Amino acid sequence: MKKTTIIAMMLLLFTAMASAQKKTIRVATDNLDLVMQVAPNGRLYQVYLGKPLIDAADYDNIKWNVYAASDGSVCTRGHEVYATSGSEEFFEPALAITHADGNMSTYLYYQSHEQRDVEGGKETIIRLADNKYPINVTLHYVAYTKQSVIKAWTEISHVEKQPICLWRYASAMLYMKPNTFYLTSYHSDWAREGQPAEEMLLPGKRVIDTKLGSRAAEMTAPYFQISIGNKATETDGEVMLGTIGWTGNFSFTFEIDNVGALRIIPAINSYASEYSLKAGEVFTTPEFIFTMSDKGIGNASRNMHDWARLYQVNMGTGDRLTLLNNWENTAFDFDQKSLAELMKDAKDLGVDMFLLDDGWFANKYPRKDDHAGLGDWEATRSKLPEGVPGLVRDAKKAGVKFGIWVEPEMVNPKSELFEKHPDWVIMQPNRDTYYYRNQLVLDLSNPKVQDFVFGVIDRIMTENPEIAYFKWDCNSPITNIYSPYLGKNQNHLYIEHVRGVYNVFSRVKAKYPNLPMMLCSGGGARMDYEALKYFTEFWCSDNTDPYERLYMQWSISKFFPVKAMGSHVTNWNKKASVKFRTDVCSSCKLGFDIDLKSLSADEYKFMQEAVANYHRLKPVILDGDQYRLVSPYDTDHCAINYVSADKTQAVVFAYDLHPRFREPQKALKLQGLDPTRKYTVTEINLEPGKVSQAECNGKQYSGDYLMNVGIDVFTADEGASHVFELK
Ligand code: DGJ
Repeated sequence: MKKTTIIAMMLLLFTAMASAQKKTIRVATDNLDLVMQVAPNGRLYQVYLGKPLIDAADYDNIKWNVYAASDGSVCTRGHEVYATSGSEEFFEPALAITHADGNMSTYLYYQSHEQRDVEGGKETIIRLADNKYPINVTLHYVAYTKQSVIKAWTEISHVEKQPICLWRYASAMLYMKPNTFYLTSYHSDWAREGQPAEEMLLPGKRVIDTKLGSRAAEMTAPYFQISIGNKATETDGEVMLGTIGWTGNFSFTFEIDNVGALRIIPAINSYASEYSLKAGEVFTTPEFIFTMSDKGIGNASRNMHDWARLYQVNMGTGDRLTLLNNWENTAFDFDQKSLAELMKDAKDLGVDMFLLDDGWFANKYPRKDDHAGLGDWEATRSKLPEGVPGLVRDAKKAGVKFGIWVEPEMVNPKSELFEKHPDWVIMQPNRDTYYYRNQLVLDLSNPKVQDFVFGVIDRIMTENPEIAYFKWDCNSPITNIYSPYLGKNQNHLYIEHVRGVYNVFSRVKAKYPNLPMMLCSGGGARMDYEALKYFTEFWCSDNTDPYERLYMQWSISKFFPVKAMGSHVTNWNKKASVKFRTDVCSSCKLGFDIDLKSLSADEYKFMQEAVANYHRLKPVILDGDQYRLVSPYDTDHCAINYVSADKTQAVVFAYDLHPRFREPQKALKLQGLDPTRKYTVTEINLEPGKVSQAECNGKQYSGDYLMNVGIDVFTADEGASHVFELK
């Protein structure tokens, strides 16, 4: 008997066994359950998603078949957990395959499942298989118990005689029962990251996706919010926050079907990416991460933050370094001597590190602007005669750590790398070349290029083991999409490229596990939870205007902990006071990118004190619980408070953006405190010579009072800001 016939017979047997008994599979967390059922037809359907029922036995009573049959007969259709193409499933599928014989249908039957304990929760592994074709699909769900976060991904494989073609390959698929749904997606552009757009979903499909390849999230962010029933607020309403961990083309499909249910399909964008899967090869999708709360967006965000710090972000529970960067100050115009001065400035300011940005490398075509040099990662001798070792030594002498900028996935045509290896570049062989920021993307699908990119970091680290930090930039999307390496398999490029990027990231992490790195992409075009397995933080945006930043930080912090959100004080919007600028950045991962010598004596003194305060309060701000209190989107003000896990300390940030003339001010009610505890409120980050005008300054209140009566922290002064420490 042929191998495939035996497999098919075994599958049929399994299927018959499965259909003989009703099976309920529960992916459970403290406040979120995802429940599936094997139906009598042997297939797997989602029956529940939401707040856990008190009695889990009730899940057995939920009907899997949600559709009424038109002739009144027994209905045999439901919300299949991983819907496939070519079946009686009429909406967007999670999986679509063209088999080796050209057949485009796939039916998946339950085979087995198991649950095992993993760090922070439980993993559920469900095996499905087709009964006519040797296709295996394994669904993975990791349920993080305390944080109510679920991470889901899928593996697809087969043993057909020829490769099969995957043209949809979602990470997971979720359904929400008929209701009114409001989707918030986040569109973007350079210096305009994280702009929310809220819409009511209507029957039909809404797709949020990107086709930029690298710098993939430049125009749209890989995260979304769904409010269920009504528009959720920070403290009320049922809401889902979802995000995909994929540093490349992604897509979210939201489809309201004929029974009014919402279908959510997070996936790699299959645009130009039909994937030819060989027998025995396992296609692993990216992770889709989501949480739900019936207590509003703030609660859902805190779930995400806790989960991210504990289980996902590189060194998520570790410390973070404050820094002085030189980009906004010097751009490309520096030399060893001027950098040594900046290192001394960094020390005097009180930050932990000096970070050297773009412009330090290349000799044949020195990097004096963004037209040349990318790819040639040796220090420019004319600028830096003692190379990177000289800089590391100067930093040590100044008493600060040293960090360095790289953009190793890119190349300028004006570089020795391009001259030597034009075949390492993604570029059309037969068309005019389109340059984005005068550069091209290296072909990371090519293992030799992966070695080269890893080698960039490895060489710098081997020569300078004391380097404390990398800022890893990525300033171009993939243009001129053609890989000299992939030949006829161009449809694999977008996917293989990202896999190549991860190959490099994981090698760097394996060799340098304690090296903090910032993910940057011409601003914030790379912020996703897969990259954050390797990076300690990301750069939210090149737009550092403090007003703009308050909006961005508000949006981005819904999905990411502020510990991972780099925020630097710069000269963008000089009209805003140095205090306002510093107070805005102090509510995230603080850094500076400014000419300190241009500040007045008082401004500088203020900054030094603010840095010292930040160092003292870092554990509360970066590791505490964040409560977004007053939204800049809804009011003329903004306020956030952070509370330490034991609720003994808190920090309040309050900002007056553009208050109206004689506008009555509301008291600010804090959140997350212990109502029975007494807190002393002290205004900090005061400009030299200024005394706090806040009535609450120096007073003691109960947590109950602070949360229900509140304190007066807002003023009618445009661009005012106030920071309070509570002990
Ligand atoms: C883009 C980044 O976002 C900036 O911070 C800076 O590093 C420049 N690239 C340097 O070219």
